[in-house]
Formats: sequence, structure tokens, C-alpha cells
Amino acid sequence: MDGIAGRLFLITGGARGIGRATAEAIAAAGGDVALADMDGAAASQTAREITDRFGTRAVGHALDVRDLDATKAVVAAIERGTGPIAGLVPAAGITRTQPAETMDGAAWRDVIDINLSGTFYSCQAAAEVMLPRQRGAIVTLASITSFGGQAGRANYAASKWAVVGLTKTLAIEWGNRGIRVNGVGPNAVDTPMLRGGVPERFVDGVMCDRTPLGRVAQASEIAAVILFLLSDHASYVNGAVIPVDGGLTAGFLTHARGRDYASKILDAQQ
Ligand SMILES: NC(=O)c1ccc[n+]([C@@H]2O[C@H](COP(=O)([O-])OP(=O)(O)OC[C@H]3O[C@@H](n4cnc5c(N)ncnc54)[C@H](O)[C@@H]3O)[C@@H](O)[C@H]2O)c1
Repeated sequence: MDGIAGRLFLITGGARGIGRATAEAIAAAGGDVALADMDGAAASQTAREITDRFGTRAVGHALDVRDLDATKAVVAAIERGTGPIAGLVPAAGITRTQPAETMDGAAWRDVIDINLSGTFYSCQAAAEVMLPRQRGAIVTLASITSFGGQAGRANYAASKWAVVGLTKTLAIEWGNRGIRVNGVGPNAVDTPMLRGGVPERFVDGVMCDRTPLGRVAQASEIAAVILFLLSDHASYVNGAVIPVDGGLTAGFLTHARGRDYASKILDAQQ
């Protein structure tokens, strides 16, 4: 794929989930990946599996994205040991759900520090090596919670709205020096975490019911859009945050998967 094959991409949070699916999509397109994750052992294991499956280069590094100096050190180690970084996907992120009135400081700080500050630090560290080369692409992880609020997620919504502001600002600052910065806003992704943590009645009765496509996403469906934004096929896309949400944020009054018309006439015809 243009702009992917033979190039190296840094993915934070790449050990699993959307980060891992993105690494697999890049590898399938002939690109190499460096996975930096809090769980360094899992990152290395994922990297081995990717190399075995796709035959491309993949390396794992331990990193806490809250630490700017450590992030710069990992970027330097990758540049020295693996090659020049052509793009970044800062996919490390967490959620800590608590009611706003009793949300503790640790839950607030952890989410803001990882989702927002960690994303910024990763972008800054990667840009430091990409800007002198006048070429690069960054795709941030926003969310449908970047476009609205959600009960129990004051910290998460604040972090994800902020990621949009960060994405657009970096797109303006770095676009004229060859680095495109875009984001994706995924709907809920069908993972063991979703199935284990979210009540089935909420997944079916709210998430799927309000999504015109009638289902949650697969991680590979988010990765496909990230891959496009990293690639030269998106050469004129900069500062965009693309909802990847099955149409969830297309409207406000959608339920019954878009089949409930606000119309007495249509009601009578059914
Ligand atoms: N899963 C969804 O439904 C969904 C929807 C919208 C947006 N997102 C966003 O996509 C991103 C990835 O989510 P996911 O579902 O793949 O999550 P996940 O939990 O499956 O994977 C996240 C990865 O990040 C790593 N990580 C966590 N804290 C870290 C830290 N401090 N430093 C380095 N690595 C760290 C974890 O070890 C893990 O490997 C997050 O920003 C999330 O907010 C997810």
C-alpha cells in the first residue's frame, strides 16, 4: 500500500485491542511496526506473532506513555535499532468509570494523564524525529465520546474531547512541514472488555439500538480507517477526526436502528 509498505510505524498501546489490530493492518500492507506498551512482555509477544504471521519486522518496547522522557528514549531506541519512524498511532488509552460526584482524584488523573497527556507526549516525541525529515502521519484515537458526553465518564469524555482539539492544533502546526495529523472516533468495539464490562441490555438496547448499522465495531474496522489515514491515499486529509461509528453520531433521535420514524402517517402505514 502506498506510504505503508517498507515504512516503520510506532503504535503505543499496541500489545492488544485497536493498537494491535492497527499493527496487523499495517503489517498486512507490508509495513513494519514498533509496539510500545505499558505491558512490555505483551508488546514483544504481539510483535513476534506479527512477524511470524506477516513476515514483516515488528518490535516490542515497554513504555508508560505518561512519561515524556521515557517516550523520547523509546523513540530514540527505535530510530537507532529499527529504523526511521514514518508514522505514529498513539492508541494507549484507558477508561475508569465512576459517577462524577464521587469520582476520585486517581480516576480523574489516570484517564487524563494517559489518554490526553500520553497522546500529546507521544505526538511530540515522534514529531521531533519526523519534522526534520518533512514527512510523517499521525492518527490519534478520539471516540464517539469526543462528540457528546456519557454518564459515568466525565474523565474519559473530557480527555477525548481534548484529543480532538489536540489533533486539530497539531495538524495546523505541523501540516506545513509535511506531517498530517488526523484522528478516528470509534463507536464501541466488540472486545472481551466490552462484553465483560458492559451489561448485555446496554450493548443491545442502547449501543446497537442507536446505531443505524445495528451493531458495535470490530477492531479491524477501526484499524482499516487508521491505515487509510496513515497512507498516501489520505495525502490531502489533515486535521480531520473521522467518526467510525456505524452512523451513531449522524443524528440525535435515532433508535430502533433508524427504523422508528417521527411520523404519525408512517406509523399508520406500518
Ligand atoms: N474499545 C473501544 O470501544 C473504544 C472506542 C473508542 C475509542 N477507543 C480508544 O481506542 C484506544 C485503544 O483502546 P482499546 O479498546 O484498544 O484498549 P485496550 O485496553 O484493548 O488496549 C489498550 C492498550 O494500551 C495499553 N496501555 C494502557 N495504559 C498505558 C500506558 N500508560 N502506557 C502505555 N500503554 C498503556 C494497555 O496495556 C493495552 O495494551 C483508547 O484510546 C480508547 O480510548 C476505544
